[in-house]
Parts: sequence; structure tokens; C-alpha cells
Amino acid sequence: MTGRLEGKIAIITGAGCVGPGWGNGRAACVRFAQEGAKIFAVDLNAAHMTETLARVQALGGIIEPHLCDVTDRLSVEAMVAACKDRFGGLDILVNNVGGSARGGPVDMDEDTWQRQINFNLTSVYLTCRSVLPHMAEQGRGAIVNTASTSGTRWTGAAQCAYAATKAGVIQFSRVVAVEYAPKGVRVNTVVPGQLHTPMVETRLAGQRMGGDVDALLASRIKRIPLGWMGDGRDTANAALFLASDEARFITGTELAVDGGMSVRCD
Ligand SMILES: NC(=O)c1ccc[n+]([C@@H]2O[C@H](COP(=O)([O-])OP(=O)(O)OC[C@H]3O[C@@H](n4cnc5c(N)ncnc54)[C@H](O)[C@@H]3O)[C@@H](O)[C@H]2O)c1
Repeated sequence: MTGRLEGKIAIITGAGCVGPGWGNGRAACVRFAQEGAKIFAVDLNAAHMTETLARVQALGGIIEPHLCDVTDRLSVEAMVAACKDRFGGLDILVNNVGGSARGGPVDMDEDTWQRQINFNLTSVYLTCRSVLPHMAEQGRGAIVNTASTSGTRWTGAAQCAYAATKAGVIQFSRVVAVEYAPKGVRVNTVVPGQLHTPMVETRLAGQRMGGDVDALLASRIKRIPLGWMGDGRDTANAALFLASDEARFITGTELAVDGGMSVRCD
């Protein structure tokens, strides 16, 4: 039996993780490699990628690490060229770089606002800008962008830039999907909800609950109809489906990975 991504070449950005365990990008690298993809793993932090590389190599997968700041156009162009040099092509892009900063419009300073736009939205624009000509020319390609339920609903904290940029990722993906559909390129978005990824311990508990991880987890679980929290592996399985040929008739849409949270209004 062949893997669901056998022979495909996938760029995955944010391939590391801020701590040990299953962040979204790390999980995508492992899951895509399990299904036969060659992984071009992109991150600006080499240490964050160590566990990702070890996990992929442990299962006999092929992974090439590449350091790149995906908010910088020239670095992104060089990164895409390096992937083509290393693997001889490019079939899939998974955009996973991003994260939240707390604050509403009055308490968030302008620098933070701009950094959020670059981090969550410009990164997606720049990588798509660099891969789309190649995908269009070969007449096929699949892009999976990562948004958040914070881009579609209130998720328990004021984070106006994160919400706006993640909503932007969704609409950006929809319109690019329509533009590139005649060229055989599909563009979809995964919309993770409140997951238990290492980011919870490393950053979010400090930002939101004075470092009390259990209190933060309890407040997040309360919003989830399934009553438990998924992790990066759940996002990776959704991204795998959207990136694979099983989703050949699916473009310009979103797949929520949130235990039902998007539907419940309280
Ligand atoms: N974790 C969650 O609960 C959750 C929920 C909804 C959406 N998301 C989204 O999922 C994505 C990944 O989040 P996570 O918490 O799994 O990942 P993470 O924060 O653990 O890891 C992200 C990786 O991106 C890298 N990175 C940061 N800036 C970069 C840059 N400019 N260029 C290249 N690499 C860079 C970091 O070094 C890190 O290794 C984000 O877009 C986030 O908004 C996460």
C-alpha cells in the first residue's frame, strides 16, 4: 500500500515547536512523512526543529531543515528555491507560522499590531506569492493555510490583531483559491480551535492566567462541546486530508478542528 502523499514534496513552515510535544507544524511534518511526503521543514529557530527532525527520522521519513524568517520576502524566495534545488520540485505548502498577542485596539500598541500582521498574514501572503508561479506552471499544487477559531468567533480573550489576521487568512485563502482553480492549484484553510499544544505551557498560561496552566486548560475545555482538548496531531490530520488528492474537489474552504466549539455560542 502506498502512502496518501507518496512522492509529494511539502514545504511546512513553523515546522518546529516552542516546546516538547505536538505543536501543529511538528505534527504535520511527522504525519505527512508517515504518508510518504518529502518534508522541507522551515523555521527560524533551529532548536525548535530538533524534535521534529528526530521524530521524522525515527520513522524513516525524509526531511530537510531550512532556517528562514517567513516574514521576509527575500528569505522566502530563497527558501522556495532551496526546496526546489533539494527535492527537484514542490507540490504542497502548509503555512503554519503564527500566534497571538493579547490586547484590544486601545491597549495594543501599534508595533504589536504590525508585528501580528506580519507574523500571521504577511507570512502567508509571501509564501503563497513564492510558490504559486511554480504550482501554476506545473498545473497542480495544494496549499493549506492555518487560521484559528479566533478568526471566526470570540475565544475568551481580547486579541483583536490575532482575530483580524486569522480572519484575513481565511478570506485570503478563499479568493486565491478561486483565482488559481483554473490552474489546478487548490487552497484551503484549517481552523484549529483551543488545542493543548506546548504553546499553552510556554506562552499562553503566562499571558492569560499568571502562569496557572491548569486554570487555563480548565477555562479552554469549558468551551469545547466534546469536553477535551485536541493537539497538533488533530490539525495535522485535517491538513493531510486537504493536501492530499482525496480532497481533489475541495478548494476555497475551511475545516474546523475544534471539538465543536465554532458551533456553540456560549
Ligand atoms: N496551539 C493552538 O492552540 C492553536 C490554536 C489555533 C491556531 N493555532 C495556529 O497554529 C499555528 C501553529 O501554532 P503552534 O502553537 O502549534 O506552534 P508553535 O508556536 O509551537 O510553533 C511555531 C513555530 O513557528 C516558528 N516561527 C515563528 N516565527 C517564525 C518566522 N517568522 N519564520 C519561520 N518560523 C517561525 C517558531 O520558531 C516555532 O517553532 C499558528 O498559526 C497558530 O496561530 C494554534
